[in-house]
Amino acid sequence: MRIYEAADYRGMSRRAANIISAHVILKPACVLGLATGRTPVGAYQQLIEWYRKGDLSFRETRAVNLDEYRGLGPGHPQSYRFFMQEQLFSHIDIRPENTFIPDGLAPDADAECRRYNEVIRTLGGIDLQLLGIGRNGHIGFNEPGRAFELETHLVDLSASTRAANARFFPDGAEIPGQAFTMGIKSIMQARRILVAVSGAEKAEIVMRAFTGPVVPGVPCSILQLHPDVTLVGDRAALAALRKTGARICG
Ligand code: GLP
Repeated sequence: MRIYEAADYRGMSRRAANIISAHVILKPACVLGLATGRTPVGAYQQLIEWYRKGDLSFRETRAVNLDEYRGLGPGHPQSYRFFMQEQLFSHIDIRPENTFIPDGLAPDADAECRRYNEVIRTLGGIDLQLLGIGRNGHIGFNEPGRAFELETHLVDLSASTRAANARFFPDGAEIPGQAFTMGIKSIMQARRILVAVSGAEKAEIVMRAFTGPVVPGVPCSILQLHPDVTLVGDRAALAALRKTGARICG
């Protein structure tokens, strides 16, 4: 695993965007696995800037997102489809038909999971999967549990995840209790993984993820078993990991 430390969120975002852009430049038709949450927003802004300058094109690129709330459609401001349109897709030249996110309104959850697995397979798998880490160690919406769930599935969101994500919803709004998410196998089959972390509130889980035991109770700990992981973080998020003696590049 490579670990890169930046002084702050801006530097971390720039480093993450650099790695994503390198993939797009070297393989324009690459399959990017994308994430939501606050962490990747700075990287998306940087990619948009490079696209506007003419340094980057996503004309051939395919994007497949990790997850979506069940019950929220693409027009809902808190849906992940809406988020991705706002934060990235509508500002770059990616073709709409090349962007994939689970359908939060799909009436048959099992059929939607099967469909999404097929989407990933048909794309030929994911070249680079971008991941954030939830405070309880979730990746995508793979919540702590007793087993690593393998492919796309419907999850009941934990109280702590719903509380953490309440910041994206207006006061008093109902936060969905379920979500579709790629499974651990779908994520682990990505050829490369880029984990982005920022802020002191992630320091402890980052340390546990990469130095603790690999257990379903800490879903992100499975990343220790992936052969090609790059972790980019700001100083605050990497502070506890650094104390364990992990080798960190500047
Ligand atoms: C959500 C997403 C995750 C994301 C997490 C962390 O729960 N489903 O994919 O990693 O939030 O969000 P943030 O980056 O805002 O800390």
